[in-house]
Amino acid sequence: MSVPETQVTNDELSTRLDTSDEWIRSRTGIRSRHIASPADSVAGLGTEAAVQALKSAKVEASDVDMIILATTSPDHFMPATATQIQQNLNAKNACAFDIQAVCSGFLYALSIADQFIRTGSASNVLVIGAEIMSRMVDWSDRSTCILFGDGAGAVLLGKREQPGILSTRLYSDGAGYDMLYSDVSDAAFPRGKVVMNGRAVYSTAVEVMEESIRAALAQNELDVSDVDWLILHQANKRIIESVATRLGLPFEKVVVTIESFANTSSATIPISLALTDLKRGELVVLSSMGAGFTWGAAVLRW
Ligand code: COA
Repeated sequence: MSVPETQVTNDELSTRLDTSDEWIRSRTGIRSRHIASPADSVAGLGTEAAVQALKSAKVEASDVDMIILATTSPDHFMPATATQIQQNLNAKNACAFDIQAVCSGFLYALSIADQFIRTGSASNVLVIGAEIMSRMVDWSDRSTCILFGDGAGAVLLGKREQPGILSTRLYSDGAGYDMLYSDVSDAAFPRGKVVMNGRAVYSTAVEVMEESIRAALAQNELDVSDVDWLILHQANKRIIESVATRLGLPFEKVVVTIESFANTSSATIPISLALTDLKRGELVVLSSMGAGFTWGAAVLRW
């Protein structure tokens, strides 16, 4: 994982906005977030995370045959930011492309990578989630800007006889299109600024993540009691706790990283993977929900 150096606490935000550490912490669980400087880029953060993933997998960049970058905040609308990462890594033998499924982007990218590996079309796939959300929020809107942070995480998926990814399941519902989107009508925000119906997003997130996790476990003939770790998209600590409570999963099995990183969109799950002490053989369930709406779940044997 990789995050920009600068950390911004709730107290610092409350000097510029009509908000408080108490409000932000009690409503969201967030204490601080990392915010990019003008010198930071999505490609730079994604590259740093990818270098670590390659190192820990002991795979050379030249052996990577696909790079999938999940991002909502690409450095440029064209070309794909993934190609810049490819160049930075000197991953000459890879194809590289971006995918856009907002906060579910990492799960979508993981699922695409899994299909390519299962069909034998790829052997080593870098899956990266990288975002600079701070360039897409209106810093005078206290209801949205306090929620987001910047960062990246990456995994290297390799071909194995016994697949570690037991299943992935993706969903979307365009009926939620205008519940969370980037508004490009204001010239002051060339990338658009995040507009959100917080309550609608909140209740949908709790419902669909619970449903998709139950469906994913059932598909693998597994039960909630088999789960060692639940890693959810980190949008709001209360959402995470509600899903765990509805599933009947003890909180010690639930990964919470939102306190220090806030919502880094497609990067929250790979950042959380990097920060969790996962042991071989453990059963890990991932789930996310984001704008679109998009959502999904994955079941992994680590
Ligand atoms: N500081 C202080 N007050 C704030 C505030 C802030 N940063 N943001 C909003 N408020 C105020 C509102 O203006 C409102 O005041 P009013 O009652 O006088 O009108 C009050 O707090 C309640 O606002 P509301 O939006 O109803 O709060 P909430 O309890 O729904 O919490 C969110 C807001 C955004 C934290 C919550 O809805 C949420 O987390 N939603 C999901 C967000 C999400 O997951 N997004 C990403 C999905 S990928």
